[in-house]
Amino acid sequence: MNPERLSSNDIINNMSLKNKFVRDQLVQPIFIHEDEKSESSIPGLGKNRILFKSNVIESISRDLKNGCRNFILFFVPKNKSNTRFNAEFQENILLKIKKEFDSEVVIWVDLCLCSFTKSGHCCLFEDQKINYTESLKIMSDIGLSYVRGGADGIAPSSMLNGIVNSARMKLDSHNFKHIPIMSYSTKFASNFYGPFRAAADSSPSFGDRTSYQLDYTDKENAIKSSIKFSDEGADLLMVKPGLLSLDLIEPIALKTKKPIGAYQVSGEYSSLVYLADNKLIDFDSGLLETWSSFKRAGAQYIISYGSRYAKRLGI
Ligand code: PBG
Repeated sequence: MNPERLSSNDIINNMSLKNKFVRDQLVQPIFIHEDEKSESSIPGLGKNRILFKSNVIESISRDLKNGCRNFILFFVPKNKSNTRFNAEFQENILLKIKKEFDSEVVIWVDLCLCSFTKSGHCCLFEDQKINYTESLKIMSDIGLSYVRGGADGIAPSSMLNGIVNSARMKLDSHNFKHIPIMSYSTKFASNFYGPFRAAADSSPSFGDRTSYQLDYTDKENAIKSSIKFSDEGADLLMVKPGLLSLDLIEPIALKTKKPIGAYQVSGEYSSLVYLADNKLIDFDSGLLETWSSFKRAGAQYIISYGSRYAKRLGI
């Protein structure tokens, strides 16, 4: 573990502060689609829009004006494959963002294959079994491309055993020892990812994700999973879906001593949007209450589709 990975950058350092709630602890997800002609609205996610190369700079500028400067990117390529992957369009967009904003922003990139594969799965399958060797190699190579493009950190979300270790070794061997890894470390096979999968075009075409995502009835294994990814070398850990995993934050923090975040997933965020749209709750107050519960439970950072409203909410 290299503590400098979290302390050399102001924004990342703020993310892992204990007993404080500061704006940099809120990470804003951004979807970027390669195909400029694809639909940009995201049913259920309020004003969140899918972005393209042509408007991503303008959108980040607007967020920056509101003090939001910590982002996680989800790339959606035009063409899907089960064998050949490259990260050219992603690298180009990262270069463009970093050229414009440099260290004014922190850019995490979600590292997974679910938006890239024809199957919509997070990894590659062979004879109906996960092909670990190939999946880990391809994902680590893509992770390296993101970092070459200027990503400040990568966030492996596939939940494959070995992905953090493999991505770490790949970065270390290419002089990127200083780049942090935010691991989706306790991620359930949840019912609450619906709006995300529509936006990321990543619904599985067969079966479900239970062969790599966790069983939400099994608390012990859920905690073990974060310990495992911590041991693989993750710098930051995460529980997901956040609101449904509040009970896990403290035990994981106690065991690992690492900063841990909560991902308020699309279905959780959507429920607030629907309630507010139907005049059943006040959106801002409701959102702030959910964030407060993450902090109360001991999360250092929060990934939320409403992070860009933090200033308006008084954070
Ligand atoms: C990619 C990924 C998913 C989410 C984040 N990264 C989808 C999934 O696992 O099916 C879900 C986020 C959300 O619902 O907001 N693997």
